[in-house]
Amino acid sequence: MIEYDNISVECTEAGKTFLSVGTIVDTMLDKGFSRHDYVVTIGGGIMGDMGGFVAGIYMRGLPLFHIPTTLISQVDSCIGGKVGVNSVKGKNALGMFVHPQSVLIDPGTLLSLDERNYLSGIAEIIKYGLIRNPDLVCKLEQCATAVQRREIDILRDIIWDCILIKKQLVEIDEKDFGIRRILNYGHTLGHAIESNTDYKRYLHGEAISIGIAFASHLSVKAGYLDKSDYMRIIRLLDLYGLPSSWIDFNPENLIDSIHRDKKRKTKNTMILLKKIGETIIDEEIEDNHILESLKDFRI
Ligand SMILES: NC(=O)c1ccc[n+]([C@@H]2O[C@H](COP(=O)([O-])OP(=O)(O)OC[C@H]3O[C@@H](n4cnc5c(N)ncnc54)[C@H](O)[C@@H]3O)[C@@H](O)[C@H]2O)c1
Ligand SMILES: [Zn+2]
Repeated sequence: MIEYDNISVECTEAGKTFLSVGTIVDTMLDKGFSRHDYVVTIGGGIMGDMGGFVAGIYMRGLPLFHIPTTLISQVDSCIGGKVGVNSVKGKNALGMFVHPQSVLIDPGTLLSLDERNYLSGIAEIIKYGLIRNPDLVCKLEQCATAVQRREIDILRDIIWDCILIKKQLVEIDEKDFGIRRILNYGHTLGHAIESNTDYKRYLHGEAISIGIAFASHLSVKAGYLDKSDYMRIIRLLDLYGLPSSWIDFNPENLIDSIHRDKKRKTKNTMILLKKIGETIIDEEIEDNHILESLKDFRI
């Protein structure tokens, strides 16, 4: 018989802090958790990130298990080992790598997820298809109705596609200095949009959707991607009601955020597409180039 104790945690981006982690740790101490116990997170990416961080630091580390219940957490955050919390000045600024011993994914949990959070997860799935799996892109195009209806068979299938891609990349490059970075397709601008709107206007996947549209536009401008592929990507984002443009932003502010995110002042590293399913990591993109592209992206 396994004994367990529940600790409920309010999961908001603003509450994903070291303070909350301290509160969880204190509650665990009060409840008598020892080094022989383990942590099971049940919830979305915020729960996984915070609970995983607690597992990493509580009495120098407890075994961790994830039961992700949002689409983003099922296709993305439940594997790869990144856990952490936000500081006042930076998203996920405090963190470490803690891999779960195992992950239990039940796509049935997605039935209760609200539409906006569900579609936000679809943006990450589109990303996986674009960077590594053209068949997944076709599935998303051809089976849109089943995906929108959250039919379990198609969900199981596409979640598995995503997990396999992430697993392959993380196994080669756990610490994210090489090939794992292609998972950041659409995230350079996406993160800048999130921080420029104080994490309030867009859900993560919505910001990433705009970021994907922009990175694809930049890929065309850089001469890598065919315009027809770009149009296909925009149509796919539209099909799922995801945003692919943003008009009322200040390009200069976005460049500042991109610098803060990447901690670089001169050249920028961008993940670009050569074609659907194939990326290129371009480490030499000048600010001017991004600024110019942002200006014509805004129109
Ligand atoms: N560690 C990683 O590799 C990684 C990857 C991607 C995202 N993240 C992090 O994940 C977070 C976003 O995760 P998210 O999109 O899962 O959001 P979330 O954790 O905020 O969950 C979204 C909302 O859905 C609710 N919810 C969860 N499961 C539900 C269900 N089955 N039915 C109904 N409601 C449910 C939650 O309570 C919350 O209100 C961000 O903080 C991001 O930084 C981490
Ligand atoms: Zn993401």
